[in-house]
Amino acid sequence: MRLSFIGGGTMAEAIIGGILEAQIAVPKEIWVGEVVKSRREYLSSTYGINAIDNNIEAINESELIVLSIKPQDVSSVSQVIQNRISNHQTVVSIIAGATINTLMESTGHSKIIRIMPNTPAQIGSGMSVWTASDDVDASHIELTKTILSTIGEEIYVYEEKYLDMSTGLSASGPAYVFLIIEALIDAGVYVGLPRDMARKLALQTVYGSAKLVMETGRHPGELKDMVVSPGGTTAEGVQVLEKYSVPAALVEAVNSAYLKSIRLGEK
Ligand SMILES: NC(=O)c1ccc[n+]([C@@H]2O[C@H](COP(=O)([O-])OP(=O)(O)OC[C@H]3O[C@@H](n4cnc5c(N)ncnc54)[C@H](OP(=O)(O)O)[C@@H]3O)[C@@H](O)[C@H]2O)c1
Repeated sequence: MRLSFIGGGTMAEAIIGGILEAQIAVPKEIWVGEVVKSRREYLSSTYGINAIDNNIEAINESELIVLSIKPQDVSSVSQVIQNRISNHQTVVSIIAGATINTLMESTGHSKIIRIMPNTPAQIGSGMSVWTASDDVDASHIELTKTILSTIGEEIYVYEEKYLDMSTGLSASGPAYVFLIIEALIDAGVYVGLPRDMARKLALQTVYGSAKLVMETGRHPGELKDMVVSPGGTTAEGVQVLEKYSVPAALVEAVNSAYLKSIRLGEK
């Protein structure tokens, strides 16, 4: 079985890593069309896959053609591969904002899968939300599900509108969380902790808190209340977060990223 990627960047590498680790394909069955020579050399030497500068050759005879390029490169890549995609192939896009309709028009192909992954996919802890056009073969739906399971959790949705919403929350979300982690580390240093100790405390706190919500299944508000004792230290900290509108800022951040994803799709 042959699988191909156009664009051998961060996300493509994460998915390729998952495929190889789960032995869904062997390295020689994976083809990447990539413009940057140093990336091609890195991908070939690290994974033993075929990384070439010819996108038409890369997609030849592949079951899935994964478009893993930036949104601004969609039309130029589509122009090159359109009319080169055969009916047994499925185009899989991870491109932010690119709608199924846009992809159908630009590639001239009706079998399209649209995925919104995120960067923790690199360590098998990703979150992917995905959907497919009506024409996609059941076997390619299954194959995609299997591949996505190797890089973390996946949710299939029937309504494409959830892809833009997921972009705002789970695809952009790691950046929000990293920003919070960085601020917590700096805060620890500010009050006098050594930096490496502040880093360990911040990371284990974020990791442990997420795990506690997952494993208990309890509402985060309920778990928050359990930490906040009347007149205590945490109440002092939480009221500062409320005063600076941190919860409202997070809502605004997700909403802005969601609206940007819609705007990208309208271009
Ligand atoms: N990173 C995320 O968190 C994330 C999450 C969800 C979805 N996505 C989506 O995933 C897509 C890829 O993101 P990424 O972070 O992996 O990007 P990336 O690291 O920049 O990878 C894209 C790669 O494709 C190459 N490329 C550009 N034009 C090409 C062409 N015509 N033929 C072959 N290769 C070409 C790029 O080269 P140049 O650098 O020279 O352009 C780059 O090496 C984006 O559409 C993004 O919206 C990303």
